[in-house]
Amino acid sequence: MVDLPSLALDASGCTRCALAAGRTQVVFGMGNPHADLFFIGEGPGAEEDLQGLPFVGRSGKLLDRLMAEEMGLSRDECYIANVVKCRPPANRDPRPDEIEACRPWLESQLDLIGPKVVVTLGNFASRLLLETGEGITRLRGRTYPWRGVVLVPTYHPAAVLRGGSEAMAGMRADLVRAKMAMTGRPHEVAP
Ligand code: URA
Repeated sequence: MVDLPSLALDASGCTRCALAAGRTQVVFGMGNPHADLFFIGEGPGAEEDLQGLPFVGRSGKLLDRLMAEEMGLSRDECYIANVVKCRPPANRDPRPDEIEACRPWLESQLDLIGPKVVVTLGNFASRLLLETGEGITRLRGRTYPWRGVVLVPTYHPAAVLRGGSEAMAGMRADLVRAKMAMTGRPHEVAP
């Protein structure tokens, strides 16, 4: 198996789907290559496309804050990547063929990093890994065994920015759940 830097180099020239044509650069992922905790978002926005890093805009600021407040962690201690590595035009939803084309990059990242806990942010990441059409509101609030790791679905931070205090409280509770899973404690957190 290749290592993470070689994989990132390969991905930087990816033309497996039409998103390649509109990107400034591939947003592969960032963080600790040996992280116990792996966050998966949807896809890069405008700021991420420019900087080449995931979650550097408003959603990312919220993610950083909640990660610090509820888990005592910084983004350097975990790993952050997206379902699709290139920005969809005008921030539209990624299409099923784009998600499928990009999937091997994410699969390899998960294999190489080997986290204990995966937090899926929003519908796209949660549905992809859990192989369900169910929405995040129904999926979140509990943990799922997934390929030997604990999967914790939660709201996308952009939805929390739009959704107000209830979504915020839900995401906070999910991050506490993820923290408990990392430390091997039972996940007794109210939904
Ligand atoms: N939203 C995402 O899903 N991913 C990012 O990297 C930024 C915003």
